[in-house]
Amino acid sequence: MKLTPEQQRILEGTKGKTIAKVMETLVRYGELFGAESMVEITSKYNHLVTSFGLKGLASIYTLFDQLIEEGAVSKQQFSVDPRPMDPNVPSSLLQKLVFKKLMYTKQEEYERQLEQLGILNDKAYTCTCYMDEVGNTPKQGEILSWSESSAVVYANSVLGARCNRNSGIIDLMGSIVGYVPNFGLLTDQGRKAKWIIEIRTSKKPEAQLLGSAIGMKVMEDVPYIIGLDKWLGTLDDQTKTYLKDFGAATASNGAVGLYHVEGITPEAAQQGRALLAEDAKTYAIDDAELQRVYDSYPVIWKKQDAKPKLCFMGCPHMSYEQLITWSRRILKGLKEAKRTKVAIPTVFTAAPQVIARFNETKYSKALKKTGVIVSYICPLMYMNNPLCGSMPVITSSNKLRTYTSARYYTDEEILQQITTGGIKA
Ligand code: F3S
Repeated sequence: MKLTPEQQRILEGTKGKTIAKVMETLVRYGELFGAESMVEITSKYNHLVTSFGLKGLASIYTLFDQLIEEGAVSKQQFSVDPRPMDPNVPSSLLQKLVFKKLMYTKQEEYERQLEQLGILNDKAYTCTCYMDEVGNTPKQGEILSWSESSAVVYANSVLGARCNRNSGIIDLMGSIVGYVPNFGLLTDQGRKAKWIIEIRTSKKPEAQLLGSAIGMKVMEDVPYIIGLDKWLGTLDDQTKTYLKDFGAATASNGAVGLYHVEGITPEAAQQGRALLAEDAKTYAIDDAELQRVYDSYPVIWKKQDAKPKLCFMGCPHMSYEQLITWSRRILKGLKEAKRTKVAIPTVFTAAPQVIARFNETKYSKALKKTGVIVSYICPLMYMNNPLCGSMPVITSSNKLRTYTSARYYTDEEILQQITTGGIKA
Protein backbone atom coordinates (compact mmCIF):
# COMPACT_ATOMS: atom_id res chain seq x y z
CA MET A 1 0.00 0.00 0.00
CA LYS A 2 1.43 3.39 -1.00
CA LEU A 3 0.32 6.10 1.41
CA THR A 4 0.44 9.86 0.92
CA PRO A 5 2.70 11.78 3.37
CA GLU A 6 -0.45 12.88 5.29
CA GLN A 7 -1.78 9.29 5.53
CA GLN A 8 1.67 8.07 6.59
CA ARG A 9 1.78 10.67 9.37
CA ILE A 10 -1.63 9.53 10.65
CA LEU A 11 -0.38 5.94 10.64
CA GLU A 12 2.66 7.02 12.65
CA GLY A 13 0.49 8.61 15.30
CA THR A 14 0.47 12.38 14.66
CA LYS A 15 -3.25 12.40 15.40
CA GLY A 16 -2.98 10.12 18.41
CA LYS A 17 -2.62 6.43 19.11
CA THR A 18 -6.25 5.51 18.55
CA ILE A 19 -6.49 7.14 15.12
CA ALA A 20 -3.20 5.47 14.20
CA LYS A 21 -4.74 2.10 15.11
CA VAL A 22 -7.83 2.92 13.07
CA MET A 23 -5.63 3.79 10.09
CA GLU A 24 -3.62 0.60 10.50
CA THR A 25 -6.83 -1.44 10.54
CA LEU A 26 -7.97 0.18 7.29
CA VAL A 27 -4.59 -0.32 5.62
CA ARG A 28 -4.55 -4.00 6.57
CA TYR A 29 -8.16 -4.43 5.46
CA GLY A 30 -7.37 -2.77 2.13
CA GLU A 31 -4.27 -4.92 1.60
CA LEU A 32 -6.40 -8.05 1.99
CA PHE A 33 -8.37 -6.88 -1.05
CA GLY A 34 -5.30 -5.85 -3.05
CA ALA A 35 -5.73 -2.07 -2.57
CA GLU A 36 -2.60 -0.11 -3.46
CA SER A 37 -3.70 3.24 -2.07
CA MET A 38 -6.19 4.99 0.21
CA VAL A 39 -8.63 7.54 -1.20
CA GLU A 40 -10.32 10.45 0.49
CA ILE A 41 -13.99 10.20 1.42
CA THR A 42 -15.75 13.04 -0.38
CA SER A 43 -19.40 12.62 0.64
CA LYS A 44 -20.86 15.22 3.00
CA TYR A 45 -22.37 12.60 5.34
CA ASN A 46 -21.69 8.99 6.27
CA HIS A 47 -24.22 6.21 6.90
CA LEU A 48 -23.72 3.53 9.57
CA VAL A 49 -25.41 0.16 9.60
CA THR A 50 -25.31 -0.35 13.37
CA SER A 51 -28.39 1.32 14.85
CA PHE A 52 -29.39 -1.21 17.46
CA GLY A 53 -28.36 -1.48 21.08
CA LEU A 54 -28.21 -5.26 21.12
CA LYS A 55 -26.96 -6.66 24.43
CA GLY A 56 -24.49 -9.01 22.72
CA LEU A 57 -22.52 -6.22 21.01
CA ALA A 58 -20.57 -5.24 24.14
CA SER A 59 -17.25 -4.87 22.27
CA ILE A 60 -18.80 -2.19 20.02
CA TYR A 61 -19.89 -0.09 23.01
CA THR A 62 -16.42 -0.38 24.53
CA LEU A 63 -14.81 0.60 21.23
CA PHE A 64 -17.17 3.57 20.80
CA ASP A 65 -16.47 4.72 24.38
CA GLN A 66 -12.76 4.56 23.70
CA LEU A 67 -13.14 6.56 20.48
CA ILE A 68 -15.24 9.19 22.24
CA GLU A 69 -12.94 9.47 25.27
CA GLU A 70 -9.86 9.92 23.10
CA GLY A 71 -11.59 12.42 20.84
CA ALA A 72 -11.17 10.09 17.86
CA VAL A 73 -14.53 11.14 16.53
CA SER A 74 -15.22 11.69 12.86
CA LYS A 75 -15.93 15.22 11.70
CA GLN A 76 -18.37 13.69 9.26
CA GLN A 77 -21.95 13.54 10.52
CA PHE A 78 -23.97 10.44 9.69
CA SER A 79 -27.34 8.73 9.49
CA VAL A 80 -27.87 5.16 10.73
CA ASP A 81 -30.18 2.24 10.03
CA PRO A 82 -33.69 2.21 11.58
CA ARG A 83 -34.43 1.78 15.26
CA PRO A 84 -35.32 -1.78 16.28
CA MET A 85 -38.36 -0.96 18.43
CA ASP A 86 -41.55 1.05 18.07
CA PRO A 87 -44.32 0.77 20.68
CA ASN A 88 -46.93 1.21 17.89
CA VAL A 89 -46.01 -2.05 16.20
CA PRO A 90 -48.12 -4.94 17.50
CA SER A 91 -46.19 -7.27 19.80
CA SER A 92 -47.20 -9.66 22.54
CA LEU A 93 -46.32 -9.08 26.17
CA LEU A 94 -43.63 -11.73 25.87
CA GLN A 95 -42.15 -10.08 22.77
CA LYS A 96 -42.08 -6.70 24.52
CA LEU A 97 -40.29 -8.31 27.43
CA VAL A 98 -37.74 -9.99 25.15
CA PHE A 99 -37.08 -6.75 23.22
CA LYS A 100 -36.71 -4.55 26.30
CA LYS A 101 -35.14 -6.89 28.83
CA LEU A 102 -33.12 -9.35 26.76
CA MET A 103 -32.30 -8.00 23.32
CA TYR A 104 -32.15 -4.22 22.93
CA THR A 105 -31.21 -3.43 26.51
CA LYS A 106 -28.48 -1.01 25.42
CA GLN A 107 -30.61 1.03 22.99
CA GLU A 108 -30.77 4.27 24.97
CA GLU A 109 -27.12 4.13 25.98
CA TYR A 110 -26.11 3.37 22.42
CA GLU A 111 -28.14 6.26 21.02
CA ARG A 112 -26.31 8.58 23.42
CA GLN A 113 -23.00 7.27 22.02
CA LEU A 114 -24.23 7.92 18.47
CA GLU A 115 -25.04 11.51 19.45
CA GLN A 116 -21.49 11.98 20.68
CA LEU A 117 -20.08 10.35 17.56
CA GLY A 118 -22.01 12.75 15.28
CA ILE A 119 -25.42 11.41 14.24
CA LEU A 120 -27.20 14.04 12.11
CA ASN A 121 -30.26 14.34 14.35
CA ASP A 122 -32.80 12.32 16.31
CA LYS A 123 -34.66 11.37 13.10
CA ALA A 124 -31.65 10.14 11.15
CA TYR A 125 -32.64 6.49 11.68
CA THR A 126 -33.46 4.86 8.34
CA CYS A 127 -31.90 2.60 5.74
CA THR A 128 -33.21 4.93 2.98
CA CYS A 129 -31.05 7.87 4.07
CA TYR A 130 -30.64 8.82 0.39
CA MET A 131 -34.26 9.92 0.03
CA ASP A 132 -34.82 13.64 -0.59
CA GLU A 133 -36.78 13.99 2.66
CA VAL A 134 -33.83 12.65 4.67
CA GLY A 135 -31.10 14.47 2.78
CA ASN A 136 -28.11 12.11 2.93
CA THR A 137 -27.99 11.87 -0.86
CA PRO A 138 -24.47 11.53 -2.31
CA LYS A 139 -23.66 12.83 -5.77
CA GLN A 140 -22.25 10.94 -8.72
CA GLY A 141 -18.56 10.13 -8.30
CA GLU A 142 -18.43 10.86 -4.57
CA ILE A 143 -16.47 8.38 -2.43
CA LEU A 144 -18.37 6.90 0.53
CA SER A 145 -17.73 4.66 3.51
CA TRP A 146 -21.17 3.04 3.99
CA SER A 147 -22.14 -0.50 4.91
CA GLU A 148 -25.95 -0.98 4.82
CA SER A 149 -26.15 -3.25 1.76
CA SER A 150 -29.44 -1.85 0.40
CA ALA A 151 -28.13 1.73 0.71
CA VAL A 152 -24.71 0.89 -0.77
CA VAL A 153 -26.22 -0.72 -3.87
CA TYR A 154 -28.61 2.24 -4.30
CA ALA A 155 -25.85 4.85 -3.87
CA ASN A 156 -23.56 3.05 -6.34
CA SER A 157 -26.17 2.22 -8.95
CA VAL A 158 -28.88 4.88 -8.90
CA LEU A 159 -26.77 7.82 -7.69
CA GLY A 160 -23.46 6.80 -9.28
CA ALA A 161 -21.50 7.31 -6.04
CA ARG A 162 -18.60 4.96 -5.21
CA CYS A 163 -18.65 2.67 -2.20
CA ASN A 164 -17.57 -0.87 -1.35
CA ARG A 165 -19.72 -3.18 0.74
CA ASN A 166 -17.86 -2.68 4.01
CA SER A 167 -18.59 -4.07 7.44
CA GLY A 168 -20.23 -1.77 10.00
CA ILE A 169 -17.05 -1.05 11.92
CA ILE A 170 -14.82 -0.59 8.87
CA ASP A 171 -17.41 1.87 7.64
CA LEU A 172 -17.13 3.90 10.87
CA MET A 173 -13.32 3.70 10.84
CA GLY A 174 -13.20 5.06 7.28
CA SER A 175 -15.28 7.98 8.35
CA ILE A 176 -13.00 8.65 11.37
CA VAL A 177 -9.77 8.92 9.37
CA GLY A 178 -11.46 10.29 6.25
CA TYR A 179 -9.95 7.69 3.90
CA VAL A 180 -10.95 4.27 2.53
CA PRO A 181 -8.85 1.65 0.74
CA ASN A 182 -9.04 2.01 -3.03
CA PHE A 183 -10.29 -1.23 -4.56
CA GLY A 184 -13.38 -2.93 -6.00
CA LEU A 185 -16.32 -0.64 -6.65
CA LEU A 186 -14.24 2.49 -6.10
CA THR A 187 -12.29 1.79 -9.30
CA ASP A 188 -13.40 2.07 -12.95
CA GLN A 189 -12.33 -1.52 -13.55
CA GLY A 190 -14.30 -2.79 -10.54
CA ARG A 191 -17.44 -1.11 -11.88
CA LYS A 192 -17.39 -3.07 -15.14
CA ALA A 193 -20.19 -5.59 -15.60
CA LYS A 194 -19.33 -9.29 -15.71
CA TRP A 195 -22.92 -10.22 -16.56
CA ILE A 196 -25.38 -9.14 -19.25
CA ILE A 197 -28.94 -9.65 -18.02
CA GLU A 198 -31.54 -9.81 -20.78
CA ILE A 199 -35.08 -9.05 -19.66
CA ARG A 200 -37.59 -10.89 -21.85
CA THR A 201 -40.70 -10.81 -19.66
CA SER A 202 -44.23 -10.18 -20.99
CA LYS A 203 -44.94 -7.56 -18.32
CA LYS A 204 -43.04 -5.28 -15.94
CA PRO A 205 -41.16 -7.73 -13.70
CA GLU A 206 -41.81 -7.60 -9.94
CA ALA A 207 -38.86 -5.59 -8.59
CA GLN A 208 -38.17 -7.84 -5.62
CA LEU A 209 -38.41 -11.05 -7.65
CA LEU A 210 -36.20 -9.81 -10.47
CA GLY A 211 -33.60 -8.59 -7.97
CA SER A 212 -33.66 -11.95 -6.24
CA ALA A 213 -33.16 -13.87 -9.52
CA ILE A 214 -30.24 -11.67 -10.56
CA GLY A 215 -28.65 -11.66 -7.08
CA MET A 216 -28.72 -15.44 -6.82
CA LYS A 217 -27.19 -15.80 -10.29
CA VAL A 218 -24.40 -13.19 -10.27
CA MET A 219 -23.66 -13.13 -6.50
CA GLU A 220 -21.10 -10.30 -5.95
CA ASP A 221 -20.52 -9.50 -9.65
CA VAL A 222 -21.81 -6.40 -11.40
CA PRO A 223 -24.77 -7.03 -13.76
CA TYR A 224 -25.64 -4.85 -16.79
CA ILE A 225 -29.37 -5.10 -17.40
CA ILE A 226 -30.80 -4.81 -20.88
CA GLY A 227 -34.51 -4.47 -21.69
CA LEU A 228 -35.70 -3.14 -18.32
CA ASP A 229 -35.81 0.48 -19.55
CA LYS A 230 -38.77 -0.58 -21.70
CA TRP A 231 -40.76 -1.11 -18.47
CA LEU A 232 -39.24 1.64 -16.35
CA GLY A 233 -39.25 4.63 -18.73
CA THR A 234 -37.16 7.32 -17.04
CA LEU A 235 -35.42 7.73 -13.69
CA ASP A 236 -38.44 9.35 -11.99
CA ASP A 237 -39.70 8.80 -8.42
CA GLN A 238 -41.53 5.61 -9.36
CA THR A 239 -38.43 4.16 -11.04
CA LYS A 240 -36.25 5.15 -8.07
CA THR A 241 -38.64 3.28 -5.77
CA TYR A 242 -38.55 0.27 -8.08
CA LEU A 243 -34.74 0.30 -8.14
CA LYS A 244 -34.58 0.68 -4.33
CA ASP A 245 -36.52 -2.58 -3.89
CA PHE A 246 -34.85 -4.31 -6.82
CA GLY A 247 -31.37 -3.40 -5.56
CA ALA A 248 -32.05 -4.53 -1.99
CA ALA A 249 -33.08 -7.93 -3.34
CA THR A 250 -29.91 -8.24 -5.48
CA ALA A 251 -27.81 -7.29 -2.45
CA SER A 252 -29.47 -9.67 0.02
CA ASN A 253 -30.32 -12.68 -2.16
CA GLY A 254 -26.84 -12.34 -3.64
CA ALA A 255 -24.15 -9.83 -2.69
CA VAL A 256 -24.51 -7.25 -5.45
CA GLY A 257 -23.04 -3.82 -4.64
CA LEU A 258 -23.60 -2.20 -8.04
CA TYR A 259 -25.81 -2.80 -11.08
CA HIS A 260 -26.26 -0.88 -14.30
CA VAL A 261 -29.63 -0.57 -16.04
CA GLU A 262 -29.25 0.34 -19.70
CA GLY A 263 -30.68 3.76 -20.49
CA ILE A 264 -31.64 4.42 -16.84
CA THR A 265 -28.84 4.44 -14.24
CA PRO A 266 -26.32 7.29 -14.61
CA GLU A 267 -23.21 5.37 -15.65
CA ALA A 268 -25.17 3.16 -18.07
CA ALA A 269 -26.83 6.26 -19.56
CA GLN A 270 -23.41 7.92 -20.03
CA GLN A 271 -21.19 5.00 -21.03
CA GLY A 272 -23.62 2.36 -22.34
CA ARG A 273 -22.14 -1.02 -23.22
CA ALA A 274 -18.59 0.26 -22.76
CA LEU A 275 -19.29 -0.78 -19.15
CA LEU A 276 -19.25 -4.46 -20.12
CA ALA A 277 -16.19 -6.46 -19.12
CA GLU A 278 -14.62 -8.67 -21.75
CA ASP A 279 -16.20 -12.14 -21.76
CA ALA A 280 -19.29 -10.99 -19.85
CA LYS A 281 -21.68 -13.92 -19.41
CA THR A 282 -25.39 -13.73 -20.29
CA TYR A 283 -28.44 -14.59 -18.18
CA ALA A 284 -31.85 -14.29 -19.83
CA ILE A 285 -34.92 -13.80 -17.65
CA ASP A 286 -38.43 -14.49 -18.88
CA ASP A 287 -41.76 -15.13 -17.10
CA ALA A 288 -40.95 -18.83 -16.62
CA GLU A 289 -37.59 -18.03 -14.99
CA LEU A 290 -39.20 -15.62 -12.53
CA GLN A 291 -41.83 -18.25 -11.69
CA ARG A 292 -39.08 -20.84 -11.16
CA VAL A 293 -37.31 -18.50 -8.73
CA TYR A 294 -40.55 -17.75 -6.87
CA ASP A 295 -41.38 -21.44 -6.56
CA SER A 296 -37.91 -22.18 -5.18
CA TYR A 297 -38.42 -20.13 -1.99
CA PRO A 298 -38.78 -22.42 1.01
CA VAL A 299 -41.66 -21.76 3.43
CA ILE A 300 -40.24 -22.30 6.90
CA TRP A 301 -43.33 -21.61 8.96
CA LYS A 302 -44.15 -24.33 11.50
CA LYS A 303 -47.61 -24.70 9.96
CA GLN A 304 -47.34 -24.20 6.21
CA ASP A 305 -50.99 -23.16 5.79
CA ALA A 306 -51.16 -20.93 8.89
CA LYS A 307 -53.22 -17.76 8.69
CA PRO A 308 -50.77 -14.81 8.56
CA LYS A 309 -50.53 -12.92 11.85
CA LEU A 310 -48.69 -9.90 10.53
CA CYS A 311 -47.75 -8.27 7.24
CA PHE A 312 -44.59 -6.14 6.95
CA MET A 313 -44.06 -3.80 4.00
CA GLY A 314 -41.05 -1.56 3.71
CA CYS A 315 -37.74 -3.39 3.86
CA PRO A 316 -35.99 -1.22 2.71
CA HIS A 317 -38.13 1.62 4.06
CA MET A 318 -40.94 2.75 1.77
CA SER A 319 -40.70 5.94 -0.26
CA TYR A 320 -43.31 8.73 -0.08
CA GLU A 321 -44.49 7.71 -3.53
CA GLN A 322 -44.91 4.11 -2.29
CA LEU A 323 -46.91 5.14 0.79
CA ILE A 324 -49.33 7.12 -1.39
CA THR A 325 -49.67 4.37 -4.02
CA TRP A 326 -50.22 1.67 -1.40
CA SER A 327 -52.77 3.79 0.47
CA ARG A 328 -54.76 4.19 -2.75
CA ARG A 329 -54.50 0.48 -3.54
CA ILE A 330 -55.64 -0.55 -0.06
CA LEU A 331 -58.56 1.88 0.02
CA LYS A 332 -59.71 0.67 -3.41
CA GLY A 333 -59.19 -3.00 -2.51
CA LEU A 334 -61.14 -2.70 0.74
CA LYS A 335 -63.99 -0.92 -1.01
CA GLU A 336 -64.21 -3.70 -3.60
CA ALA A 337 -64.10 -6.31 -0.81
CA LYS A 338 -66.78 -4.37 1.09
CA ARG A 339 -64.53 -4.08 4.12
CA THR A 340 -63.33 -1.11 6.16
CA LYS A 341 -60.39 -2.72 7.96
CA VAL A 342 -57.44 -4.75 6.70
CA ALA A 343 -57.85 -8.50 7.19
CA ILE A 344 -54.28 -8.98 8.53
CA PRO A 345 -52.48 -6.63 10.95
CA THR A 346 -50.24 -4.65 8.61
CA VAL A 347 -47.22 -2.45 9.24
CA PHE A 348 -45.74 -0.09 6.62
CA THR A 349 -42.25 1.13 7.48
CA ALA A 350 -40.59 4.33 6.28
CA ALA A 351 -38.06 6.96 7.33
CA PRO A 352 -39.32 9.35 10.05
CA GLN A 353 -39.05 12.30 7.62
CA VAL A 354 -41.00 10.42 4.93
CA ILE A 355 -43.68 9.54 7.49
CA ALA A 356 -43.89 13.22 8.50
CA ARG A 357 -44.46 14.21 4.85
CA PHE A 358 -47.05 11.45 4.41
CA ASN A 359 -48.84 12.61 7.58
CA GLU A 360 -49.53 15.92 5.85
CA THR A 361 -51.67 14.18 3.22
CA LYS A 362 -55.31 13.07 3.32
CA TYR A 363 -54.14 9.47 2.91
CA SER A 364 -52.56 9.33 6.34
CA LYS A 365 -55.86 9.47 8.23
CA ALA A 366 -57.63 7.26 5.71
CA LEU A 367 -54.93 4.59 5.99
CA LYS A 368 -55.01 4.75 9.77
CA LYS A 369 -58.74 4.04 9.70
CA THR A 370 -58.08 0.81 7.80
CA GLY A 371 -55.87 -0.38 10.65
CA VAL A 372 -52.54 -0.11 8.82
CA ILE A 373 -49.74 1.11 11.10
CA VAL A 374 -46.99 3.31 9.68
CA SER A 375 -43.75 2.90 11.62
CA TYR A 376 -40.06 3.86 11.50
CA ILE A 377 -39.01 0.39 12.75
CA CYS A 378 -36.70 -2.11 10.99
CA PRO A 379 -38.86 -5.23 10.40
CA LEU A 380 -35.80 -7.45 10.40
CA MET A 381 -34.77 -6.33 13.87
CA TYR A 382 -38.33 -6.94 15.04
CA MET A 383 -38.31 -10.47 13.63
CA ASN A 384 -34.76 -11.47 14.42
CA ASN A 385 -35.53 -13.51 17.57
CA PRO A 386 -36.81 -17.03 18.36
CA LEU A 387 -40.32 -15.79 19.22
CA CYS A 388 -40.85 -14.55 15.67
CA GLY A 389 -39.31 -17.71 14.25
CA SER A 390 -42.63 -19.48 14.57
CA MET A 391 -44.80 -16.48 13.69
CA PRO A 392 -46.51 -16.51 10.27
CA VAL A 393 -45.47 -13.14 8.84
CA ILE A 394 -45.95 -12.18 5.18
CA THR A 395 -44.02 -9.62 3.16
CA SER A 396 -43.15 -8.60 -0.39
CA SER A 397 -39.58 -7.88 0.73
CA ASN A 398 -37.10 -10.41 -0.53
CA LYS A 399 -34.54 -9.18 2.00
CA LEU A 400 -36.89 -9.87 4.90
CA ARG A 401 -37.74 -13.29 3.42
CA THR A 402 -34.04 -14.15 3.16
CA TYR A 403 -33.05 -13.21 6.71
CA THR A 404 -36.16 -14.31 8.64
CA SER A 405 -39.04 -16.81 8.50
CA ALA A 406 -41.28 -14.24 6.74
CA ARG A 407 -43.02 -15.63 3.66
CA TYR A 408 -42.68 -13.80 0.35
CA TYR A 409 -45.66 -12.86 -1.78
CA THR A 410 -45.80 -10.52 -4.78
CA ASP A 411 -47.25 -7.04 -4.22
CA GLU A 412 -50.51 -8.11 -5.86
CA GLU A 413 -50.83 -11.17 -3.62
CA ILE A 414 -50.06 -9.09 -0.52
CA LEU A 415 -52.76 -6.62 -1.53
CA GLN A 416 -55.30 -9.41 -1.92
CA GLN A 417 -54.38 -10.94 1.41
CA ILE A 418 -54.60 -7.75 3.41
CA THR A 419 -57.77 -6.52 1.75
CA THR A 420 -59.68 -9.81 1.48
CA GLY A 421 -57.94 -12.26 3.84
CA GLY A 422 -56.96 -14.71 1.08
CA ILE A 423 -55.45 -15.13 -2.37
CA LYS A 424 -57.52 -15.75 -5.48
CA ALA A 425 -56.72 -19.20 -6.87
FE1 F3S B 1 -33.85 -1.51 6.08
FE2 F3S B 1 -34.03 -3.10 8.12
FE3 F3S B 1 -34.74 -3.92 5.76
S1 F3S B 1 -32.37 -1.78 7.69
S2 F3S B 1 -33.40 -2.85 4.39
S3 F3S B 1 -35.71 -2.27 6.94
S4 F3S B 1 -33.54 -5.05 7.20
